[in-house]
Amino acid sequence: MTQRKTRILTGITTSGTPHLGNYVGAIRPAVAASRMAGMESFYFLADFHALVKVQDPARVQRSTLEIAAAWLACGLDPGKVWFYRQSDIPEIPELTWLLTCVAGKGLLNRAHAYKAAVDRNRGEALDDDAGITAGLFMYPVLMAADILLFNADKVPVGRDQVQHIEMARDFGQRFNHLYGEPAGKQYFRLPEAVIEAHVATLPGLDGRKMSKSYDNTIPLFAPKATLRKLIASIVTDSKAPGEAKDADASHVFQLYQAFASAAETDAMRREFDRGIGWGDAKQQLFERIDAEVAPLRERYESLMAEPQEIEARLRDGAERLRAQHATPLLRELRAAVGLRDLSQAAGTARKATTKAAQPQFKQYRETDGRFYFKLTDGEGKLLLQSVGHDSAREAGQLIARLKQVGGADLRHVESIGVHLGEVLLGHLAEGVAMDEVAAVLETFAEDAA
Ligand code: TRP
Repeated sequence: MTQRKTRILTGITTSGTPHLGNYVGAIRPAVAASRMAGMESFYFLADFHALVKVQDPARVQRSTLEIAAAWLACGLDPGKVWFYRQSDIPEIPELTWLLTCVAGKGLLNRAHAYKAAVDRNRGEALDDDAGITAGLFMYPVLMAADILLFNADKVPVGRDQVQHIEMARDFGQRFNHLYGEPAGKQYFRLPEAVIEAHVATLPGLDGRKMSKSYDNTIPLFAPKATLRKLIASIVTDSKAPGEAKDADASHVFQLYQAFASAAETDAMRREFDRGIGWGDAKQQLFERIDAEVAPLRERYESLMAEPQEIEARLRDGAERLRAQHATPLLRELRAAVGLRDLSQAAGTARKATTKAAQPQFKQYRETDGRFYFKLTDGEGKLLLQSVGHDSAREAGQLIARLKQVGGADLRHVESIGVHLGEVLLGHLAEGVAMDEVAAVLETFAEDAA
């Protein structure tokens, strides 16, 4: 048996333009991890999540395109990893509802993002929930659906997302408990958060963490001239050229380190000690970043020129993923919660009663001294009445043969009766069809098999 690969899954909210912080903190390590053996990676564009933050349709579309192109330009291979767009998988919102119905509202009340929004409202003496959409409140359930649908083992995320993974575990566990009992079936694996401790958090232009919410980012694929200008605008102290500079306190140095080898970093540290001027340090930083980014930028630009290619790749990923994972799992989950084919329900009921009361052969002796048997169904309705036999043994042997061969060899001869081969067995009861008898006899044959 081939061992199941460890599944790594992560989503990228499509609400902005990819910047150097995304590249160093997420894209670069993820592409590297996706090339490791023994892993099955799932990377997706979380565009449903984007709607919680961004209600500007053009921006959602633009961001989705830019992020998809960025990941592909940086070497993500859709032939080796699952690369898809959340909104192309209708099973995600469907599972979201199933999980919504097991999620504790109290747990959602404690989600950091929701609590922070409530706290802001209180700070401004507003109603607790002023301006808060149910989308923000339900965000963790949607995220749990992303993760649980594909039974991910590991979810690489930033620290701010760890609580969401814990919630996904909670919802998954509740569902397993509620619907998996008493057979102990585990519909969902419980995911683990992976916090990439060794991955650097990049400082932005103002020295705070590079983030679109601080508006201090350097876009990953800014044209060369823009990249140079933005790097020149990084805030530094006012030490003059020739004055020794503290590398570890410098954002220019931290950025350099994220792109340079250990040897290059050591060399730069010595330059700082020797008092490199800020202009020169920034020029070196620009050259180092551009050396890594330029070939990616070229691929990015050609991808952006053919958005229909990106669209096709995303659709292809989602289509294959639905067929292999999402659709069959949802079918199982729907059945688990009781969203079932009603004709099946009738079948189950009939089976259940046949289980409780099986069709039966009854042997008896009549006042004429002869030996008879009759066949009744599970509800005790008479189906077949035998002719008389000279001995109980003779009747018993016929019953045994009937049980063995099932209904296949029976023939009904009009106005004479039911035959097994050439032997006359008896008569159908009033209003009973031959097919019904044959079907009941099949249940004996199945039991014997
Ligand atoms: N909420 C995540 C973020 O803002 C993005 C995301 C959506 C995600 N669904 C996910 C991350 C599933 C990991 C797994 O970063």
